[in-house]
Amino acid sequence: MSKQLKIALPKGRLGEKAYRVLAEAGFPCPEILEDNRKLIFENPEAGVSYFLVKPSDVSVYVEHGAADCGVVGKDILLEYEPDVYELFDLGMGKCRMCVAGEKNFEDRHTRALRVATKFPNIASAYFDEHSREIEIIHLNGSIELAPLVGLSDVIVDIVETGTTLRENGLAVLEEIVQISARFIANKASFKFKGTEIRQILDGLKNSLG
Ligand code: PRP
Repeated sequence: MSKQLKIALPKGRLGEKAYRVLAEAGFPCPEILEDNRKLIFENPEAGVSYFLVKPSDVSVYVEHGAADCGVVGKDILLEYEPDVYELFDLGMGKCRMCVAGEKNFEDRHTRALRVATKFPNIASAYFDEHSREIEIIHLNGSIELAPLVGLSDVIVDIVETGTTLRENGLAVLEEIVQISARFIANKASFKFKGTEIRQILDGLKNSLG
């Protein structure tokens, strides 16, 4: 008998998209698309249960083994470096991690650059590589506001369509890295439920062509 797999999905658009691919791959649980506040959805016949979690928490559930596998943005993997297996690039949820700021921003190097971000590790690593001293201003959202009100010189943030930057009179100054959603697995689960995880992986690869 095959073992039930617990899959952590990020709440929101990416999670819904990932779920649709998983359903097509043979692991449906249609209740997940209903408009409700449930967090766990089970389909014993298909051998899966899904958890809906905050996008940045997916890798926490998977690293600790509360979920066997999950779908998470590469941004989260780069920022938190969880001890998980990154198995497959789903090619969805594509965006870019960028340094952004006022269109005509010029770094005069007279003092540490003030960088507002939700991604302090990615930002630090990037500016370290460029030997630029920075001061991190750690925010949790609406990062684009920071340079507009003088809280920071620039931001390091996700740019998807570019609308948020544009509508706030900001622009991409440098691209740090391209981001997309990844299928990840807990290391112990990969050992003990390897067959089941590979089934999901093959299903994903097939339905994504
Ligand atoms: C993300 C990101 C940008 C925006 C980019 O924010 O932090 O603000 O999306 O998307 P765009 O290029 O398509 O405009 P999110 O919506 O997650 O909200 P947040 O401000 O709370 O981080």
